[in-house]
Amino acid sequence: MLAISASAVLVATTAVSLAFYTLASPFEAPHGLGASQARSRCDRASFARLLPAHATLESIAVVRENGNYGEGAADIPYPRNPTNLPALCAVIVGVRSSSSSSYRFGLFLPDDWNSRFLVVGNGGFAGGINWLDMAAGPRIGMASLSTDTGHSGGTTDSTWALNQPERRTDWGWRAIHGSTVLGKRLVSAYYVNKPLRYSYYSGCSTGGRQGLKELQASPDSFDGALIGAPAWWTSHTNTYVAQIGLYNLPVTDPKHLSLSDISLLADEVTRQCDGADGVMDGIVSSPELCTLNLTTLLCSDSKNNNNNNNTNPNPSSPKCLTAAQISTAEKVYSDYYFSEDHTLLHPGLTPGSEQQWYLLLNGTEPTPFGVGYVRNFLYNNPAWDWHAFNESVTRYAEKTDPGNATADDYAALATVRERGGKVILYHGLADGLVHTRLSEVYYNRTVAALGGRHRGKHSKEGLADFFRMFLIPGMLHCLGSAVDAPWAMGGASQAGVLGAGVRSVPGFEDAEHDALLALFDWVEKGRAVESIVATAWRSPLDPTSGVKRQRPVCAWPKKAVWDGVGSVDDAASWRCSR
Ligand SMILES: *[C@@H]1O[C@H](CO)[C@@H](O)[C@H](O)[C@H]1NC(C)=O
Ligand SMILES: *[C@@H]1O[C@H](CO)[C@@H](O)[C@H](O)[C@H]1NC(C)=O
Ligand SMILES: *[C@@H]1O[C@H](CO)[C@@H](O)[C@H](O)[C@H]1NC(C)=O
Ligand SMILES: *[C@@H]1O[C@H](CO)[C@@H](O)[C@H](O)[C@H]1NC(C)=O
Ligand SMILES: *[C@@H]1O[C@H](CO)[C@@H](O)[C@H](O)[C@H]1NC(C)=O
Repeated sequence: MLAISASAVLVATTAVSLAFYTLASPFEAPHGLGASQARSRCDRASFARLLPAHATLESIAVVRENGNYGEGAADIPYPRNPTNLPALCAVIVGVRSSSSSSYRFGLFLPDDWNSRFLVVGNGGFAGGINWLDMAAGPRIGMASLSTDTGHSGGTTDSTWALNQPERRTDWGWRAIHGSTVLGKRLVSAYYVNKPLRYSYYSGCSTGGRQGLKELQASPDSFDGALIGAPAWWTSHTNTYVAQIGLYNLPVTDPKHLSLSDISLLADEVTRQCDGADGVMDGIVSSPELCTLNLTTLLCSDSKNNNNNNNTNPNPSSPKCLTAAQISTAEKVYSDYYFSEDHTLLHPGLTPGSEQQWYLLLNGTEPTPFGVGYVRNFLYNNPAWDWHAFNESVTRYAEKTDPGNATADDYAALATVRERGGKVILYHGLADGLVHTRLSEVYYNRTVAALGGRHRGKHSKEGLADFFRMFLIPGMLHCLGSAVDAPWAMGGASQAGVLGAGVRSVPGFEDAEHDALLALFDWVEKGRAVESIVATAWRSPLDPTSGVKRQRPVCAWPKKAVWDGVGSVDDAASWRCSR
């Protein structure tokens, strides 16, 4: 059931607001009057009339200034309601997508609207409306939308997909596409005489994939898209992550890396690679310049961690690794090529990502992102034994692409470019879940598909006129850092982890520090985004603890370079350079 907060008032179903259709925009009237007029249109009978036959109005509620809204615990992956909302209308619409599937989406329609619209994404297999990320919209005057992707369930749960091709299609692309198209129509209708001028997207992980997929399926959906750590290569990534788990199993095998072994590895990688960018700050900022030599960790007679001793395969403070363990780590870093034709099956994880390897390498079986996908999406076989993973599984996924989820139509972005759309892609260099190098592969393949060619001219800047990539040193998957690297930059879900009432980058709510605000300037004022200053706080998730570090993240292939004089914790000591 829907749990609505005390501050949200359900509007009586019988109230009919003729004003909905006849009044001019309330925002041309004095502020107080305008707000109350907008609210008077937050009405079930009027709103329901705007919906096409395959859609139904599930709920509509007035949320007052400083109120909160969401579905609470009923929304399994997103149980936390955003708080401190501006006055708005909260709507839930249900859409029948086939005879055996349907999806829902939530809409926030702020009383004070600035003609902009924001669609936000989901994460993993999450089936639920992402109210917390949606709050980013109305906090800055935008209408916003999120879909539940067509099912209800947690982030790692894919059991809903078993023998359900229509539901997979909703998760794959139909829910985000249908919600975006209908959402734009509803926003335009709700604000009567004020036009919808700009539409944006923001999502990370599966959310990044959803954004790329929607740009490919419908290049005119968004004027600007902020794409974080996209898990875009579904057919490959969601099978390969089963292989990564297998590298490290069973846990009783001498090749197994325990979390303590991985911690030892992380320290050694930092020791060898931290300085590759010229600055010793505990952050591996240029992993591509570091040639790892893990032989330094090899156990010898004088250096023994008991790992060969079967009674204690995983000591709590190992001093060295066996050759078999080093080989496991090397496989995790390595790109994997199909044996038959030597094409890329999947890139490896990046040195510096070890602090998050527990997501794919811990436990007694491979990640549910892999095993669940193969069982429930690919083979319709809940008994599929992950020990049996081999390359043919990925080949079959590539051929069938369940749910049409894979976002690999690189050339489609040409249309986004031609109509003036802008795309910012960002990815943490310490991401241990969705490989950072996947973004590099995506970017490189888009370069190959479009070239620097733009309106007949060959640009030296490659894709920079509309599509830029930002690799964030030390950032984990979508947010956070294990090494106090600056990470907060206005990406999806970032404000939400700082608090249910938080917006943007607290204390730095501007286009210099917030990539979404920077994207608006690029789209609306033609100001291309050269860098975004990322922030880390002394107490990592508490902005009131004070800033610990700020540093620009630069549009690839440029990087932040220290001036050699100022504090490395001060953004002013860095500039973007090749
Ligand atoms: C798969 O998605 C693409 C958009 O990326 C779309 O053009 C295509 O029609 C879809 N294919 C099917 C079979 O639905
Ligand atoms: C790797 O490290 C080992 C042990 O310190 C050393 O003997 C070897 O020469 C190094 N290899 C390379 C290629 O630098
Ligand atoms: C690793 O797995 C063990 C059990 O398999 C679990 O108890 C532990 O919480 C996991 N650690 C992390 C960091 O996920
Ligand atoms: C690979 O796995 C598939 C599916 O589990 C199986 O049918 C096939 O026999 C395997 N191939 C090899 C060479 O082991
Ligand atoms: C992408 O292209 C750049 C420049 O050509 C190259 O240095 C890099 O290795 C490529 N990355 C991947 C993952 O292919």
